[in-house]
Amino acid sequence: MAIDAGFLDELRARTPIASVIGRRVKLTRSGRNWKGCCPFHGEKTPSFYVYDDHFHCFGCGVHGDVISYVMQSEGRSFPEAVEELASAAGLEVPAQTRESREAVVHARSLEDVLNATQALWAQALYQPEGRAGLDYLLARGLTRETIASFGLGWAGEGRGALAAALEREGITPAQMAEAGLMRLDEDGRPKGELFWGRVTFPIRDRKGRLVSFGGRILGDGQPKYLNGPETALFSKRRLLFGLDRARAAVRAPRPKGVPAPDLVVVEGYMDVIALHQAGFTGAVAPLGTALTPEQLEVLWQVDRAPILCFDGDAAGRRAAVKAAQTALPLLNADHTLRFCLLPEGEDPDSLVRERGAQAVAGLFGAARGLSDVLFDLLAGGMVQPGPEERAALRHKLTESAALITDKTLASEYRRTLLDRFFARFRSSGRGKAGGAPFTGSAGRQAEVTGFIALDQTRERHRLLLQLLLRHPALVPDMEEALCRLELAADFAAVRAALLDFSAEGAHAPSAGTLRAWVAQNGLEETIRAVMREEDGSAAQPDDTTDPAQLVSARTQWWHFYGLLDRARFEAEVEREIASFTAKNGDADQWQRLQARLEARERLKRGGLEDTEF
Ligand code: UTP
Ligand code: MN
Repeated sequence: MAIDAGFLDELRARTPIASVIGRRVKLTRSGRNWKGCCPFHGEKTPSFYVYDDHFHCFGCGVHGDVISYVMQSEGRSFPEAVEELASAAGLEVPAQTRESREAVVHARSLEDVLNATQALWAQALYQPEGRAGLDYLLARGLTRETIASFGLGWAGEGRGALAAALEREGITPAQMAEAGLMRLDEDGRPKGELFWGRVTFPIRDRKGRLVSFGGRILGDGQPKYLNGPETALFSKRRLLFGLDRARAAVRAPRPKGVPAPDLVVVEGYMDVIALHQAGFTGAVAPLGTALTPEQLEVLWQVDRAPILCFDGDAAGRRAAVKAAQTALPLLNADHTLRFCLLPEGEDPDSLVRERGAQAVAGLFGAARGLSDVLFDLLAGGMVQPGPEERAALRHKLTESAALITDKTLASEYRRTLLDRFFARFRSSGRGKAGGAPFTGSAGRQAEVTGFIALDQTRERHRLLLQLLLRHPALVPDMEEALCRLELAADFAAVRAALLDFSAEGAHAPSAGTLRAWVAQNGLEETIRAVMREEDGSAAQPDDTTDPAQLVSARTQWWHFYGLLDRARFEAEVEREIASFTAKNGDADQWQRLQARLEARERLKRGGLEDTEF
């Protein structure tokens, strides 16, 4: 900084900020401080506070000391404001700082360049040249108060106006380029302004500091929106439009019982502004890109479950899936998301205007948790999926759950997703005449995971499949657990056949009919490996009908399953017990639960190793 810091301190000390501001703004005492109606946005009830060394508006967030007040209220550059205040206070600006205008200018930060630009553009909106821009914003339903509060502006007609105006304040094209206001040619030389003939949206960081601009063309030209490029101050990956206000609104003290506003992520500038105007003060938007992991982290610093809004059309759903996939690896108990799918073709801006704030509040209130909505997003519009689509979907569901790094949460998600899967596609298919039709086996390889199980694990998997092949009546009970196994590709194909067989609702499932089914699916060879029939003889007897054998097979199955992952098994048994007690389960359920309890006992005793089977 070219102006001596000591001098600036003295200048501030000798210039009572309340009297400078009080020249134009009616201030009244508020305790030790002053308050009044904010000169930067047209309010009617005072939320503009003046302290002994700074001012702050709780309505629009403007903030600064006496020097920045003069800059902002009078459109002065920093040296001009200093000069003006110094002469009013009877002080001389130290000589060395005036030796060359250049030196002062050089020391000016990017922030100064942006603030000078903002002052020009905000004023231009109310000049004749900006009339079209102002009319456009008013026609889109923004009030003058909103326009002022967001600092919307007008970037002059034609290129060159900004550069010329800033040059008068001693700002060079190179500095403008650094601040993201100039295009550069191939050699990195400034080559024309980025924004002109557009309404401008100041982009502020989470603390409210100006870092860049967005600009919208009036009417239908292209590109509709321009966003400033990455600069030392502005990172699109990290920032969201409206974040400063949303953060302040969520954190603002409020009376007991009044909930914080929802943090809502929408698509565009105008959505954010329209929502704020309608009282949804937690609205933010990314800057023309898909939501990034960095933005999610920033959002979670403000709210544990932000609401993401998407258009209900196909593109909106794709964007929602993408956002979910970005979020999954980062989820934990305190970091989650809610989703709000809007009526097709609508955005929050159009909804507020056409249906009113009440309707929008209803939509946000109905936002669904990620764990709830994820199944529907991944299943898309599947109506009557064949086995291939079902297998592919199941694969997608387990893969998505596996993206979650938090282990406990991952298993909860997996369970929830598979529950939904079975509720939707399995139980409805079973035993019902109009169940999902079987459409062939060509897509089985969708199951392929490329995962080669370790020998011991593979042997346990083999035993689990063998038991089911010998006792198809067990399949429905084991379905869920079966789906949790990380099977190698060949075994996964057998599993898929088993599940489809069961879903077909074979009336008298016998080992014989199952074998015929499986053979039909071209898995004969794998089945022989599973059954240990390498010699080609030793076909297993069909023992499905013996109830005693069934009970013991059930227990054995859970025993091997438990050996694969004790902790998982324990947790699942606990859940089963809880669910049985809660639902007052019947005898049939009790019998099935009993098999698991018996298996758990055996595991505790450490008896019955794999080989005893
Ligand atoms: P949309 O095209 O969905 O428009 O852009 P919108 O927000 O509804 O805009 P209005 O209502 O027509 O004014 C959503 C966001 O995508 C980015 C902007 O950040 C915009 O707010 N965008 C859009 C661009 O960066 N460039 C474009 O050309 C268009
Ligand atoms: Mn819109």
